Amino acid sequence: MKRFCSLLLVFALLFAMTGCLGIRPTEPSDKPYVIGFSQVGSESDWRVANTKSVTAAFASDTGYELIMENARQEQENQFAAVRRFILEGVDFIIIAPTVEEGWDTILQEIRDAKIPVIIVDRSVAVDDDNLFLTNIGSDFLRQGNLAVEWLEGEIPADRTAKILHLQGTIGATAQILRTKALEDAAAKHSNWEITSQLYGDFTEAKAYEVMTEYLKTNKEIDVLYSENDNMTFGAMRALDEAGISYGNGGQVKIITFDATKEALQYCHDGKINLCVECNPMFGPQIKQLIEKYRNGEEIPKHVYVDESAYTTQNITQDFVDSRAY
Ligand code: AHR
Repeated sequence: MKRFCSLLLVFALLFAMTGCLGIRPTEPSDKPYVIGFSQVGSESDWRVANTKSVTAAFASDTGYELIMENARQEQENQFAAVRRFILEGVDFIIIAPTVEEGWDTILQEIRDAKIPVIIVDRSVAVDDDNLFLTNIGSDFLRQGNLAVEWLEGEIPADRTAKILHLQGTIGATAQILRTKALEDAAAKHSNWEITSQLYGDFTEAKAYEVMTEYLKTNKEIDVLYSENDNMTFGAMRALDEAGISYGNGGQVKIITFDATKEALQYCHDGKINLCVECNPMFGPQIKQLIEKYRNGEEIPKHVYVDESAYTTQNITQDFVDSRAY
């Protein structure tokens, strides 16, 4: 009887291996691990660099297939993309959220589909933090604090500073925390006056438009606090056209966020006073986190990327030339 059972087992295995029982052998090496990536858009040079960094990290590895969807800065487009990823049965989802609020339902849908998800760049404000594995990106509050600390050293206590504030997409972590740093500092310094908050949506075109309009009636600006480089470029064009000087020795001190190559060049040339870095090159770190997850290793709930701040005094032309984005 024992011998008969063993023979039966051998036959069953042979049938299975030849496909006669209709069971396909699993071929893990043939099938790439499919990742759906919902990206915010292509609103800025920073974003373009971030997309390149994430796609390059996976492109070099045939074990992965990355499907990227550009949300054109609309959260609704992100929801639609995520639902497509779920229908397609992807193995993993990456979301770079446009804004912080409104993610509970869609993240629950991802959890119900048993797909792991990580949040990158900005953050989400959800009741249950277990709806995502981890959040990797910038420490936006630290960035804002680096800017205001620099400004504290620039504005004498006995002089009023009129600060014009250009804001990015309202509700995005980058906007919320960079704004918080400035507003908190202005509340502490009675000589700091935020004269206006203009909405530039992180784009050069919008910032140029609102700045041009603003400068028709307001020319008294001591500081421009601009929440990203592309808005700064738009603002600089508007200031040029209005005949207002800026940068080292100019009327307006310019603070900008991102520190892209173009902004660093302006800073090196004395046209921008402070570049606070926002590092977009974390594609390889995202891949590492996903690999850790796949290996069953523990991953931290929040990962901040390395960042710094630059003025004319601490950058060289070589540094600008070596900038990857
Ligand atoms: O979330 C990062 C911010 O978004 C960058 O500062 C900006 O350039 C981008 O559009």
